[in-house]
Amino acid sequence: MRTTAFASLLVSLVALSGIGPATASENGQILYRLHCSGCHGLQGGAATVGRIPALAGNVGTFMKSAESRTFLTQAPGIMNSGLNDKDVATLMNWLVPTLAKESLTEPFRPYSVEEIAHSRANRPPDFFVARRKVAEDLRTQGYELPEY
Ligand code: HEC
Repeated sequence: MRTTAFASLLVSLVALSGIGPATASENGQILYRLHCSGCHGLQGGAATVGRIPALAGNVGTFMKSAESRTFLTQAPGIMNSGLNDKDVATLMNWLVPTLAKESLTEPFRPYSVEEIAHSRANRPPDFFVARRKVAEDLRTQGYELPEY
C-alpha cells in the first residue's frame, strides 16, 4: 500500500518536473500553462474581469500583416514574463496555430528567435495606442479584431 502511494507520488513528481524529452510543441504548451493561462485561461478565452482579450479565434488575424504579426508578440504579459527570446518563439509557435481556430487562413509561418529579439527591441511606447492602430489597419484590409 505504502509502496504504491510512494510510486504514484514519484510518477507525479517526475511529470511535474518535466523530466524526459519534450517536443517543441509540448514545450510551447507548458510555457503557456505556466506563464499565461493564469490570466488567459487554458483555452485562451476572453474574460470581462481583468479585461482579458480572447486569444482564441483572434490570434490568426494578427498574421495578416507584418506590423500586427510583430505587435502580437509585444503584449506586456509576454515581454514581461521573463521568458527569453527562444522560449517566446517556442511559445508563440505553439499558441498561434493552436488557438487561432478559423482566424488563421493561411499556413502559419513560425516566429524565429531573431524576429522575437527584434520585437523586443522595438516595443511600442504605448501598447494600447499600438493596438488601436493595428486594429484600424487590419480593418481597412477587411479584418476585424475585438476591442478591449
Ligand atoms: C497578469 C495577467 C496576464 C498574464 C500573466 C498574461 N497576459 Fe496577456 N494580456 C493580459 C491583458 C489584461 C491583456 C490586454 C492588454 C493589457 O491590459 O495589457 C493581454 C493581452 C495579450 C495579448 C494581446 C491580444 C490582443 O488582442 O491584442 C496577447 C497576444 C497576450 N496577452 C498573450 C499573452 C501570453 C502569450 C502570455 C504568457 C506569456 C500572457 N499574455 C500573459 C493579461 C495577461
